[in-house]
Amino acid sequence: MRMVKVSAPGKLMLFGEHAVIYGRPCIVTAVDQRITVICEEIVGDELSVLALDLGIKDYHKKITELGSGSNIPKEVKFVELALKNYRDQYGKIGGLKITTKSDFSSKFGFGSSSAVTVAVLKAVSELYSRKLTNKQLFDLSYKTVLDVQGVGSGFDLAAAIWGGTLYFVGGGKTIRPLKTKPLPLVVGYTGVKADTTTLVKQVGELYKKERVVVNNIFEIIEMITKKASHSLLKGDWVKLGMLMNMNQGLLESLEVGSDKLSSLIYAAKNNGAYGAKLSGAGGGDCMMALVDGKNTGTIKKAIRKQKGEILDVQTGAEGVRIEL
Ligand code: PMV
Repeated sequence: MRMVKVSAPGKLMLFGEHAVIYGRPCIVTAVDQRITVICEEIVGDELSVLALDLGIKDYHKKITELGSGSNIPKEVKFVELALKNYRDQYGKIGGLKITTKSDFSSKFGFGSSSAVTVAVLKAVSELYSRKLTNKQLFDLSYKTVLDVQGVGSGFDLAAAIWGGTLYFVGGGKTIRPLKTKPLPLVVGYTGVKADTTTLVKQVGELYKKERVVVNNIFEIIEMITKKASHSLLKGDWVKLGMLMNMNQGLLESLEVGSDKLSSLIYAAKNNGAYGAKLSGAGGGDCMMALVDGKNTGTIKKAIRKQKGEILDVQTGAEGVRIEL
């Protein structure tokens, strides 16, 4: 029986969150925390899922019934819909066992669902010897994410597939690698799990109420993101930090900040960070600070003092890869 093992990285949104939903660019980097998926052929006509990190011990579904029924646990939805979409697009699949394992907790907002989706699709296509291009893998993964959660730009899928640091326009219209040095980032977790869909809807409400104002905010976020891509390429951390602070101010104006995020962001800024902002949908999850090597320790200490959890990650990690 054949078996394929694949891993895909998590991500951090550096610039442009929310605005990217409205056709503006963003910048995302893959982090060195990965999700591993083992895809094995098994006898019979069932999908079996084992995802202990997510509390899934023994999930079974007939391959012919993938995606049907209303009782699919949230944690399994991405796996099941990914396989259904693969089958619908590329033809018959047999009995499969999918085992997932994560280096990081799904609560951090590192994009575990997207990384799982990408890894499952890469693994099943390899198992059936169908070589998908990165763009084909992206399109099928993006369809899966939209099927499951209805909203999303797909930036996290791009990071999981291509890896590195990317300039990305919603839906994958542009996916451009940015050759940068590893970023000197300190990442702090607020301890609060953010719900991306709710926050995207909340910004959508604001957009409906104040279309012109919010559009102008997105316009400035786009300018900042474009400038940030140049500063990243030059390694100009002073400028990049300033742009992070500006982006954070605009995210606050979209009301996606939180007390906890602000307390960690100010702890970093008051202790010498070049700049700091939230990463992702906001409301919780993580903040990140761009730091000078000299004050890293002090900044970490200041974030911990505000009850933030430091997550040690390197940026620009490798994209999806076959492990076995
Ligand atoms: O919360 P995250 O890490 O999934 O990031 C969400 C970023 C948004 O721009 C708000 C949504 C998206 O899909 O681009």
